[in-house]
Amino acid sequence: MKVSVDGESGEAPSADGVLPLWKHRERRARKPPLLFGSRGPGSLYRRAKSLLLLCTRDRNALSSFLRADFPEPFPAAERLRLVRRFVAATDAIRCFHTQAEMLVVAEELCRMGRRNGSGPTVVECGVAKGASSAKLSLVVSRLGGQLHLYDSFRGMPANDEKLTRLDGSEVVFFKGAFTGRIPTVTRNLQLFGRPECVTLHKGLFQETMPGGLPASIDLALLDVDLLSSTAVCVRHIYPRLRAGGVLYSQDGHLREIVELLGSEVFWRDEVGCPKPEVEGLGVRKFLRIQKPSDS
Ligand SMILES: C[S@@+](CC[C@H](N)C(=O)[O-])C[C@H]1O[C@@H](n2cnc3c(N)ncnc32)[C@H](O)[C@@H]1O
Repeated sequence: MKVSVDGESGEAPSADGVLPLWKHRERRARKPPLLFGSRGPGSLYRRAKSLLLLCTRDRNALSSFLRADFPEPFPAAERLRLVRRFVAATDAIRCFHTQAEMLVVAEELCRMGRRNGSGPTVVECGVAKGASSAKLSLVVSRLGGQLHLYDSFRGMPANDEKLTRLDGSEVVFFKGAFTGRIPTVTRNLQLFGRPECVTLHKGLFQETMPGGLPASIDLALLDVDLLSSTAVCVRHIYPRLRAGGVLYSQDGHLREIVELLGSEVFWRDEVGCPKPEVEGLGVRKFLRIQKPSDS
């Protein structure tokens, strides 16, 4: 694994994550009594819950991935093994995505396959503890590609954004939330992923992306929560996305990000192209943008 900017040692206290403003003070009181002891990573509760969610909430994505036709052979037993490894990562690491989101991306990558014999170049923005990155690395490595991870590795940057979910509730992302330091992410990639295809880019997106992105990107996955971070990522990544490449955002539940990605002016003046179709915009959290093949 390559680290393009020196990492830091030492582990930060785990971030509080995100809560609507009005719920912040009620956090402790809201937790129901524990039936299975701890509910955190590695607990029995966590393992039972992730299997339940896989068979309920995530079952369409699971079934689609297991049945899909791919350009390269991908036997059923091997697909099941990959799903098992996704579940193992979910059970052990604090995650901020659904299994369905990662299965959809896995299916997209396997459909792309290799181009002219080379595996895909994949960019992930927003790593946290490295759970989504570990899963992505399993798929990218299988296809012989490269995975580039961008994050401060110190959690959310200082910001004064107050965002609104599509349901109208407000949310703020505190400085330091979702912290996953380089040693933690590295360990998680080693235990649950394939670190040999991974390069870490440490720093704020606005510092690491200009001049620090691969020349051509096949797929990008954004899970960055802030409006300003989404704008920076799209501005730098989209021009490097190859024709037919795909950009996903996991932040389509935030009204300000929906407005940004739906703005003709943003695409024309800041990205430098006509607004592409944004699948799911204003309807769902997980958004998909495929760069037109004639661009
Ligand atoms: C929701 S977490 C990512 C969760 C991860 N994808 C997962 O599913 O487990 C958001 C991440 O974005 C990073 N981030 C947000 N804005 C950033 C910025 N401007 N520069 C660098 N990192 C940023 C934070 O450090 C945080 O790790």
